[in-house]
Amino acid sequence: MASIAIDGPAGAGKSTIAKLVAKKMDYIYVDTGALYRAIAHFLVVNQIDIEDEEALAKACAGITVEIKYENDAQQVYLNGENVTPFLRTEETGNMASKSSAKAPVRAALLDLQRDMAKTYNVVMDGRDIGTNVLPNAEVKIYLTATSKERANRRYKELIEKGEAADFDKIEADIIERDERDMNRAIAPLKQAEDAVLVDSSDMTIDEVVEAIMTAAKAI
Ligand code: DC
Repeated sequence: MASIAIDGPAGAGKSTIAKLVAKKMDYIYVDTGALYRAIAHFLVVNQIDIEDEEALAKACAGITVEIKYENDAQQVYLNGENVTPFLRTEETGNMASKSSAKAPVRAALLDLQRDMAKTYNVVMDGRDIGTNVLPNAEVKIYLTATSKERANRRYKELIEKGEAADFDKIEADIIERDERDMNRAIAPLKQAEDAVLVDSSDMTIDEVVEAIMTAAKAI
């Protein structure tokens, strides 16, 4: 089985790009952020204090996370329930950023991610795929963009949906999330030594996909 690992900060366009590359390669797309979000959702719903080590370890030991595909789209099941519709909120994203720094949370998801890559050809996106989850991935991409550009994309997305958006707040949130994801002790976000750096700030989606397809030609 072959793997393409795409890591990078929040809002860099990883999922959009990874889905397109997976389609072109006829690989399965695995969104690992959704797995951390599923655990975060559980922690929020059950009001678990993530600083309470015992409570967090107990919660993680009792959680079952599964990935299924319905109409080509990844669905995440938590303890048998499809929680996918609850995962994309800002609250869940922020909790996922905080709780994913904790060892029991990361340990609970490691085997699931590695098993997916053993079973299928995958394009897997996240923060530590090339550095930690799949260190032997055939292709590693570090996809980034300036915080201004990432905030701008998020701002436009919200406006298009008719939702309220404050550019400065969005950018501040992105910078705060980068700080947390890059500076945690376990599996922090960083470019793997053998990853290809793609800065999408001034690139179109097609150009980014093309850059990754070029890197994947050797597979
Ligand atoms: O990509 P995302 O925004 O859905 O991810 C949510 C959070 O999950 C992110 O802030 C950090 C964490 N995460 C992680 O620690 N490792 C991954 N492989 C994927 C996500």
